[in-house]
Amino acid sequence: MADLVTVILAAGKGTRMKSAHPKVLHKVCGKEMVRHVLDAAVEVGSKRNIVVVGFGADEVRKALDGNAEVVVQEEQLGTGHAVLQTEPLLQETKGTVMVLCGDTPLLTSNLLRKLYEEHEKVGAKATVLTAIVPDATGYGRVIRTAAGDVEKIVEHKDATEDERKVREVNAGIYCFEKKALFSALANVGCENAQGEYYLPDVLSILRNQGEKIWAVAADDFEETLGVNSRIHLAQAEKILRRRKNLELMENGVTLMDPKSTFIDTDVVVGRDTVIYPFTWLEGKTSAGEGCILGPSSRFTDVKIGNGVTAHFVYAHECEIEAGATMGPFVHIRPNSQIGKNVKIGNFVEVKNSNIGEGSKLPHLQYIGDCDMGTNVNMGCGTITVNYDGKTKFRTKIGNGAFVGCNSNLVAPVSVGDDAYIAAGSTITKDVPAKELAVARARQKNIPNWPDKRN
Ligand code: UD1
Ligand code: CA
Repeated sequence: MADLVTVILAAGKGTRMKSAHPKVLHKVCGKEMVRHVLDAAVEVGSKRNIVVVGFGADEVRKALDGNAEVVVQEEQLGTGHAVLQTEPLLQETKGTVMVLCGDTPLLTSNLLRKLYEEHEKVGAKATVLTAIVPDATGYGRVIRTAAGDVEKIVEHKDATEDERKVREVNAGIYCFEKKALFSALANVGCENAQGEYYLPDVLSILRNQGEKIWAVAADDFEETLGVNSRIHLAQAEKILRRRKNLELMENGVTLMDPKSTFIDTDVVVGRDTVIYPFTWLEGKTSAGEGCILGPSSRFTDVKIGNGVTAHFVYAHECEIEAGATMGPFVHIRPNSQIGKNVKIGNFVEVKNSNIGEGSKLPHLQYIGDCDMGTNVNMGCGTITVNYDGKTKFRTKIGNGAFVGCNSNLVAPVSVGDDAYIAAGSTITKDVPAKELAVARARQKNIPNWPDKRN
């Protein structure tokens, strides 16, 4: 497919979404719709990918993050007009141009490959992907001749009552021979219900010129779902989540209740990991093998090693190394690195900190801006005092240190290797290695207190 070029239409506002943002940037399964479409094109082997942007162009360009060429359609005059904007970029191109819509996130590369291969095999000038849908409202209808050949595509708003009864629809996905595409586009008019230049008109124009046009029917209409409203968005979300869950289960991941497990498209999970209900794995999260994740946990952009146990945890933009156990009720905030076999117990928050291998934070800690060594024991209720109201400071705790319950470590401060801190201390000065720091008032007992009180 060396010569395959893909054009993705993504300039429309998506009025029916009632959103301040371009439609194609709404996410399905954690990824913008236009990125789903682009990824499918790349997977099929398309080397050159051009996205037509318009409404919210800068926002779309940013989301594409340099992964596609971008061309601007200043005024959105229809899908035919949108494709026309790519003509200057495709001067040198020969062969096939695949056109996709940025609002069909359920497309798979298998389906695109089928479309492309059949287009090439048949030697058509234009091939459209069609689907039989239960509810064709809003779609362009595929009108066939008595012999079964595609005659034209009629938009919902332009269709007669009889045509509206047709349930075979245009999926908005096509392969064209490049020269034929642009010569036909030059003849597309805008005399229709929406006053727009319709890309599907290219098919009937070519047909009337005696050229071969072709249609490929998708086996599964779900793949071609075009998202035009929040209701469609929710439908797409449900389908893609189910697809992701099935893929993981087929690869050896146990989902205790797939319906209440929410895993984004690009997430990776190793075999023998068990995921309990009400758990979200989002964004670029990856989990190793043999983990137990959830219930009621959320991981966003987290790298999770093998054999991690985490229940009732919210972790984001951090790394949790192999064998760590955490929860219930733990919050791991960005830029944190939780080392191997670390134990984090109930009601603990960690932020921007490194926790060394084998350290224990069993209950009620706030650890912020801290570099903690290995095998440290943090007593219940110990906290780092990292903020003086203006500036954040770091705390350093050496290997094997033992920090007594309810201690405050006022940063910047450093606790040496194998040092001890007496319970209830407020530490403001560095503690050298192997020393015991006691920083609290001495206890005084007063006898016969009830008598003295009176
Ligand atoms: C389109 C098809 C319809 C098909 C349906 C499949 C046309 C005229 N109709 O209708 O036959 O059944 O898709 O989902 O093509 N866009 C631009 N520039 C524009 C207009 C649209 O880039 O000037 C982009 C949109 O951002 C969107 C895509 O093209 O990603 C499709 O546009 P949309 O308005 O959703 O078309 P439909 O009415 O759904
Ligand atoms: Ca659409």
